[in-house]
Amino acid sequence: MPDDAWAALADAFVDGAYATVKGRVRTYVLHQQLLRHLPTAPAAVLDVGGGAAHQSLPLARLGHEITVLDPSAAMLARARHRLGAEPEAVRRRVRLLEGPGEQADVLTDARQFDAVLCHGVLMYLPDPAPMVAALCRCVAPGGSLSLMALNRRTLAVRPALERRWSDALTAFDAGSEPGVLGAETRADTVEGLSGLLRDGGLEAEAWYGVWLFADWMDIPLDTTDVGAVSEVELRAASCDPYRQLSRVFHLVGRKPVRPGRPRPDGARS
Ligand SMILES: C[S@@+](CC[C@H](N)C(=O)[O-])C[C@H]1O[C@@H](n2cnc3c(N)ncnc32)[C@H](O)[C@@H]1O
Repeated sequence: MPDDAWAALADAFVDGAYATVKGRVRTYVLHQQLLRHLPTAPAAVLDVGGGAAHQSLPLARLGHEITVLDPSAAMLARARHRLGAEPEAVRRRVRLLEGPGEQADVLTDARQFDAVLCHGVLMYLPDPAPMVAALCRCVAPGGSLSLMALNRRTLAVRPALERRWSDALTAFDAGSEPGVLGAETRADTVEGLSGLLRDGGLEAEAWYGVWLFADWMDIPLDTTDVGAVSEVELRAASCDPYRQLSRVFHLVGRKPVRPGRPRPDGARS
């Protein structure tokens, strides 16, 4: 692995993925869903693998105090550049920190946050467990953890829509797929990540889809009412059966104010 594996992908992600209808829908839907779980500003928010701060910058504009932790100097440079266009008050509320999320608690001096975000990162890791454990340690009692991951249950959709029928058949039992940025991406399930949350002392609170129609259709940005698409996607992301078909899912967990005592069967009271 190169030192900064994301240096080569930063342009494609920041200028490519986010400059599409799908990218706009992703930011809007995740933001609206997050607002259902975050306390009112100012809250301390840690965005792990926060990249160019697309998801946390809107939270800073609302008055939240943001720490973006990311191992990629190239992605953090993009975040710094985007921050440069913000008013001084917003800039002061965002701190950029370079390092891997698996060491988030150490790198933030064991500080605990009202909310921890980790969106679009687990899919690039061979094993989600060490990362989720570190993220759980960073959540303050009563705080929330927001994960966005690739949905293992819908891996056959994309190859089928591209008429790659043999790949689609294999995808039903696959655990990964070639990602849109070229790198192989590993998939998770809501149940699997909910189990990791429980291991870390959190309970799953809600789960959503993120995008559905914008993933299946090539929607031109210049002739589309992105607001209208986003409202449809937001609705679909919250109800069955639509959310189950989303290619990524958004899972929110919460740490109890008082940690439950472990029961003899291993469950928490
Ligand atoms: C697809 S981008 C997502 C960026 C941001 N979370 C967003 O939603 O816009 C993936 C990010 O994960 C970061 N990343 C990769 N491995 C990581 C790790 N071990 N710990 C923390 N971040 C990591 C990359 O540097 C990159 O910025």
